[in-house]
This record gives sequence, structure tokens and C-alpha cells, in this order.
Amino acid sequence: MEKREKFSSRLGFILISAGCAIGLGNVWRFPYITGKYGGGAFVLFYILFLVMLGLPIVIMEFAVGRGSQQSVAKSFDELEPKGSKWHVYRYFAMAGNYLLMMFYTTIGGWMLAYFVKMLQGKFVGLDPEGVGAVFGDLTTNRNEMILWMVLISVIALIVCSGGLKNGVEKVTTIMMVCLLLIMVVLVIRVMTLDNALEGLKFYLLPDFSKMKEAGIGQAIFDAMGQAFFTLSVGMGSLAIFGSYLGKERSLPGEAVSVTALDTFVAVMAGLIIFPACFAFGINPGEGPGLVFVTLPNVFGEMSGGQIWGALFFLFMTFAALSTIIAVFQNIIQFARDLWGWSLRKSVIFNGVLLLLLSLPCILGMTDWSGFSIAGKGIMDIEDFIVSNNLLPLGSLIYLLFCVSKRGWGWDNFIKEANTGEGAKFPVAKGVRFYLTFILPLIILVIFVQGYASMFLK
Ligand code: ALA
Repeated sequence: MEKREKFSSRLGFILISAGCAIGLGNVWRFPYITGKYGGGAFVLFYILFLVMLGLPIVIMEFAVGRGSQQSVAKSFDELEPKGSKWHVYRYFAMAGNYLLMMFYTTIGGWMLAYFVKMLQGKFVGLDPEGVGAVFGDLTTNRNEMILWMVLISVIALIVCSGGLKNGVEKVTTIMMVCLLLIMVVLVIRVMTLDNALEGLKFYLLPDFSKMKEAGIGQAIFDAMGQAFFTLSVGMGSLAIFGSYLGKERSLPGEAVSVTALDTFVAVMAGLIIFPACFAFGINPGEGPGLVFVTLPNVFGEMSGGQIWGALFFLFMTFAALSTIIAVFQNIIQFARDLWGWSLRKSVIFNGVLLLLLSLPCILGMTDWSGFSIAGKGIMDIEDFIVSNNLLPLGSLIYLLFCVSKRGWGWDNFIKEANTGEGAKFPVAKGVRFYLTFILPLIILVIFVQGYASMFLK
């Protein structure tokens, strides 16, 4: 078997992991869910869940990946006690990766489409209704959506076919640096719009009455789902990058950097979008169309807005693409680790399958738009299965694996996490108690409560 590739730099590892985390969850989903639940109150819950739920599990995924030097295809086999069945989770993890991509490539395609439309000046001179209509047209046009979905997927596949160092690491590092720069510039620009302060207040001042209106149980469930979604934890798509790591640096410090970068981008996205909504009188609770019907208006008002807008959607595309590349990499490596396939074979097989499986999401908005379960269309169903089921339950698996004697066990986990220079995982008794008994319960309770508040309305 070929030797496993390693990252060429620490920055490469941090930016790729952050790239896996930073994506539509930050720039598209976070702002619209926050809008739905009344702004700042929701952000509080979200940040709490990030630190209490997400961060420890990021560290655990990195540790399982690095300890086994394998993707989720074989990592549990490597580390589990003989005779145990943790490795069965590999199939659920892979289902999670696939399901995520089955709707993610479609929305990533919209970003790419908006980049091109901005460049072409399609939004010039349109009022907010006109801008909304462009989004409406795109999301009801099957063939156009397929075209953009295929394009963004093929770009990601080409990057992955270059291998870890020469493909994924190189391209993602450049994209992430550009993304961060442009976001800072856009925040500064938006803050100088009239009425921006109102948007800031909405975003940052907690208003629990609005959250109550939308349903507190549902808000908490969605905050948890969002915390898992934004970090991409629970399906091995971070563990994979641990598996390419050497032992120079301890893992908690790296996980904090990744989580902090991810949170920074989500907060910045909100700082762009909410002030812009208020400046242009657009309802911030408007749902999935928020980014697509709000931001083109902002650029319409800016001097040189066509170029700024194009750049903005290019970098939104980068956010989506960095996640698509990372998750594709996980999927491609999975087949290589499990079946010993060549890179080429794995890229082609998984590429074709991913393209085919991305079709139902698009059809769900067009030819099959009548199809729904519990009021959810195909995209929402896929999102629900991943964000509210596979990711939290997968995180629970990683958690139990790392704290339980029947799994890898606490001592092995701590040893792996803390090997190398840098911040260490706190080994105080209270922390272990929290992770062993409280955190699994929190995940389960919130998980069940989310179902209850959805079906027992
Ligand atoms: N973590 C990825 C995102 O936030 C899935 O978009």
C-alpha cells in the first residue's frame, strides 16, 4: 500500500479543516436561521453549543484520525477493543457525507451561478422585487441548476484528483485566505450604510420574546443542529485531516483555531447581512433566500457594486467549495482505505455517484415539487437527516468511543490529543464527568425534544 500523504504545513492543516467547517453553514444557513429565531438570542445558544458540544468533539475526531492514521473507513477498526462493533459506524458516517453533499452541491452551484450573473451585470438596475425574481427563476429551472451543480462538483473532483498536498491543500489554502480578506472588506463597507445600526441591534441584542414566538424548543434544537453542521462534526470529515497529521502539535489548540475561524466567519457573515437587510428594508427572517435576495441589493447601491458583488459571490463559492472539496476528499479516501482503490478509480466512481445522487434535491424543487414529508421537501429532508440526526448521533458515537472503556477509552484519547506542543485538553475530573455523563445526555435530550416539538405541535 502507498505511504499516506501528510500536510506540507501546519497552516495547511488548519485552513483545510477550517475550510471543511466554513461553508454554506456560515454564510447562508447561519444568517437565515438566526433571522428566523429573532437574532441575538439565538446566537447566544449557538455559541454556547459550539463551545460545550462542538469543540470537544472536534478534538475527538482529530484524535481518532491521528491515532489511527486512517479515515472513518478503518479508524474504528484500528482503535477499538477486539470483538467490538464501533467500526459499523463507518457506513452511517459515509451516508452522512453523501447526504450532505446531495443538497450542498446544489446550493454551492447557486453561489457559482450568482458569481457569473453578477459579473454579467444581471442585477444592475433591479429593485428588490426584481432581485427576488432572479432567485425565483434560478430555483425553478431544473437544467440550469443541474449545470451549476455539475460544474462546482467537477471543479472539486479535479482538485481532489491532484492529491492531498498538490490538490486539496494548495487550492484550499489560497481560497481561504481570499475568503477571509474579502469578508473583512465587506463588513467595513456594509457598516457605513444608513440604518446599519438597526441591523446590528437585531443581530447582537438578544430578544427572547421573538424566540418564544418561533418556539424555544425548536430554536434550541436548531442551534444544536447548526453547531454540529457548521463544524462538520460526527461523520469523520474532520477526522480525515487528523489522519494526515504528524505528532508535532497537540490537538486542542488546533481545534480551537479551527472553531474560532469558523465562528469568526459566521459572525462576520451576520455582520454583513443583517445591517444590509435593515438598510434595504428586507425581512431578515425570510429563510433560505436571504443571501440571494439581500446581498445583490447591497451591491446595487455601491459604487463598483458589480465587481464587488461578483467578488463576494466568488468568495461565497469558495466557502462552499472548500467544504465540498474537504468532504469529497473524505469520501474518496474512504474508498481507498476500505477497498485499496487507486485515487483515480475512487475519484471517478464517487464522482459519478455524487452527481447522480445530487439530482433528487434539484428535482425536489422542480419536477417533484409536490413531494413532501411532514411539510418538508427533498432538500429539507436531506438537511434534516444530516444536521439533526446523523451529525449529532455521529458526534455521540465519537464521544462515547473516546470516553468509554468499551471503546478507545479516556486515557488513550487524552494521550493522543495531548501529544505534541501546544494547548492541552483539561484532564480535571469535572471535565471527564461532564463529557462522560452530561454531554451524552444533553445531546440525547435535545435530539428527542427536537422531534417532539416538530411532530407534537
Ligand atoms: N461545515 C459545513 C458548513 O458549515 C458543512 O457549511
